[in-house]
Amino acid sequence: MHVLVTGGAGFIGSNLVRALLSGGHQVFVVDDMSTGSAANLDPRAGFRKMDILDDGLVELVAQVAPEFVVHLAAQASVTVSLRDPERDRAVNAEGTRRVAAAARAAGVRRMLSASSAAVYGEPESLPLQESASTVPMNPYGSSKLEAEGLLAAELAGSATDYASLRFSNVYGPRQDAAGEGGVVAIFCDRIGKGEKPVVFGDGSQTRDFIYVGDVVGAIVQALTSDAALAYDEIPGSPYNISTGERISVDGLIMALRPAAGYFGPVTYVAAREGDIVHSALDPSRAEHAFGWQAGVELETGIAATWRWFSALS
Ligand SMILES: NC(=O)c1ccc[n+]([C@@H]2O[C@H](COP(=O)([O-])OP(=O)(O)OC[C@H]3O[C@@H](n4cnc5c(N)ncnc54)[C@H](O)[C@@H]3O)[C@@H](O)[C@H]2O)c1
Repeated sequence: MHVLVTGGAGFIGSNLVRALLSGGHQVFVVDDMSTGSAANLDPRAGFRKMDILDDGLVELVAQVAPEFVVHLAAQASVTVSLRDPERDRAVNAEGTRRVAAAARAAGVRRMLSASSAAVYGEPESLPLQESASTVPMNPYGSSKLEAEGLLAAELAGSATDYASLRFSNVYGPRQDAAGEGGVVAIFCDRIGKGEKPVVFGDGSQTRDFIYVGDVVGAIVQALTSDAALAYDEIPGSPYNISTGERISVDGLIMALRPAAGYFGPVTYVAAREGDIVHSALDPSRAEHAFGWQAGVELETGIAATWRWFSALS
């Protein structure tokens, strides 16, 4: 395969690029390095430092002429989206539209675009299916939802098949501990520095934590599937990429303790306003459409994540 990956210097992107290269595939990365890291760039992949909003994108994608596009570049922080909703919307919504337009113009076979559990908002029942109501609770969720619609608007009826992959809470090696979303990365970072993990709330809140290796597996499976992924019922053709399981933050810490050899105290502070208490996404549509299921146990994923973080210090 010949794959162009936007956001390939980021957390999920760099894990994907590495897996594709190991599989003998050709990869080209487009990233503006706003949150991506140079250490994440693999010299075996082509690379252009470029903002996806740059007018040169159409020409670049035409020159690279990939068979597939995996669009992961985004303003991925809820906090930043609250501070600067205009930039968030420009990168996530308009940026996705431009990547889709460039993919269509270059005759790309299939484009996968990263979406998020944040499009759903407060759940009515769990686990959430793709048909559940979408009422985002912050500008990040809104821009991701708008991006799904723009993806369909650009690509429906074209030769480029497409899907939006709604990731749940992804964790694993190379996640930035400075980002607010990566609770596993933050815990690993603090324990590695000899500090106590800090939990917002009483630790009983749950999330659908998925290991990055599973997310990479889902992307590869979706790229290589013979089935057409675009379907008309919901704009953007969304698929949950998740485990369907709810894991509490306390459960996460219990899994991390033996891996990290940390049996010390945990600090509990007041819950953050606006945080959803429980979340899980039903992944069965992805299983039916392209035969993918998450397979990495929490203990295994946490241990691999800890090994990576501990090698840093
Ligand atoms: N990490 C998660 O738990 C999670 C959950 C749901 C959805 N997602 C989505 O998955 C994708 C990847 O997330 P991540 O966690 O790897 O984030 P990340 O911040 O590590 O990676 C994003 C990459 O995109 C690049 N980028 C940002 N704006 C750009 C622009 N305008 N032009 C070009 N490149 C740009 C950044 O430099 C970075 O390398 C994002 O679309 C994010 O919204 C992530």
